[in-house]
Amino acid sequence: MPATPQADAIVLFGATGDLARRMLLASLYFLDADGFLPKDFRIVATARADLTRDAFLEQTHTTLAERPEGVDAAVWTRFAARLNYVGADATTAEGAQKLKPALEGCKAPFFYLAISPSLYEKVCISLAAAGLATDDTRIVLEKPIGRDLETSRHINTSLGAVFDENQIFRIDHYLGKETVQNLLALRFANTLFEPLWNNLTIDHVQITVAETEGVGARWPYYDEYGALRDMLQNHMLQLLCLVAMEPPADMEPDSVRNEKVKVLRSLRRFTRVDVQAASVRGQYTSGVVGGKSVEGYEAERGEKTGTETFVALRADIDNWRWAGVPFFLRTGKRMPEKRTQVAIQFKPVPHSIFGSASTGDLAPNRLVIDLQPDEDIKLSLMNKAPGLSQGGMRLQSLPLSLSLLRTYEGAGGRRRIAYERLLLDVIHGDATLFVRRDEVDEAWRWVDGVADAWAEAGLRPKPYAAGSWGPSGAFALIERFGRDWSD
Ligand code: BG6
Repeated sequence: MPATPQADAIVLFGATGDLARRMLLASLYFLDADGFLPKDFRIVATARADLTRDAFLEQTHTTLAERPEGVDAAVWTRFAARLNYVGADATTAEGAQKLKPALEGCKAPFFYLAISPSLYEKVCISLAAAGLATDDTRIVLEKPIGRDLETSRHINTSLGAVFDENQIFRIDHYLGKETVQNLLALRFANTLFEPLWNNLTIDHVQITVAETEGVGARWPYYDEYGALRDMLQNHMLQLLCLVAMEPPADMEPDSVRNEKVKVLRSLRRFTRVDVQAASVRGQYTSGVVGGKSVEGYEAERGEKTGTETFVALRADIDNWRWAGVPFFLRTGKRMPEKRTQVAIQFKPVPHSIFGSASTGDLAPNRLVIDLQPDEDIKLSLMNKAPGLSQGGMRLQSLPLSLSLLRTYEGAGGRRRIAYERLLLDVIHGDATLFVRRDEVDEAWRWVDGVADAWAEAGLRPKPYAAGSWGPSGAFALIERFGRDWSD
């Protein structure tokens, strides 16, 4: 790994926003609690609001105290001592100048932009104008990086005018989730799976990201993006890449990212014809979720809209390993349960020796990786059903489970926020779990193909009741290819 200086400060832009308050400051607090923040590490929170440092500290304490873990007095004293607040408009050079006193003596701060992507370019320009963007700094960005290939290129080019690619850390918070990283361990730290990880043994792969939440007050953002751009372009394609990529030579950032880019490049482009058979768009109407009646998306939005809140599609990876293995991806808001899951369905045994009585019991092996709500990895295996039987052996499928809940119990019981891992990696300059520019380009290229094919085919979202698993077309889609969703 190239020698990168350890960061000595974070400048958190958008510090009064939801992401910063609920996720980023809490993650920094927990890193501090566990002794992961460098000794003199500073946290410079900044936003337009004209707040005093004391008022910001109070707000931060209140938000932390709302968490189930509560606030530890000794940790808070240490954390508060690092924390400063600067009210400034960072889109202007004068605003960026105001940050300088708080960074006095810092050599390698990093800038975290928890702000609207429409401001990225201006903030970069003002950081450069204020002389804050030096070779030892890093910049961290949240999605969405653009709305399509063209707009994302524009953002990436403006960033590139101020920062080198190795200084740019594009966050996909799914990559900070424990089980997502565990996919790498599972595949590449065991000999068991890799020889089977191909089209000879695997029948298909399903990736589901279902949420019970609706869009609600986020509609001004969401309506411009929809499920395809909000979830599939980033989180789901990242999961697909980790499942499908070739073994990297090592865990160096570029070794891993090179393999992910190859997968994205091998994704088969959609055409107007296959988009109708291989994809479904949906939009939730009113319904019941978790026993409560909820409004439909258009009622939340206040007017008619053609934005999808659900998408299901079949993706194909045209390479030697995966030719002929469908990847079924499905994501939606207002589903019956929160579930993020990757299911690897193996092929059935080529021939059953167990006779007709037990043939119906024979289920193909399945490896299920649950990310949410619980983190778990289960491998279903066929066993003999215990007891005596006549006319052939009875079989049953039983799961071998690596429940990660137990692992957390050993580690103090707390499930880490995905941002903790990612912030720690930025502090140490490790970009393995961050998205490189060419990954963003390739993901958009493919997603643009889907959006264009939808537009050409005039495919509008089909309604589905909130609290259901999406439009009936989502079931028809997978059945058309001879499979079922693994519900
Ligand atoms: C965000 C999307 O990136 O991920 C949201 O913008 C979505 O629409 C969220 O709700 C899901 O994240 P998680 O970690 O709750 O699965």
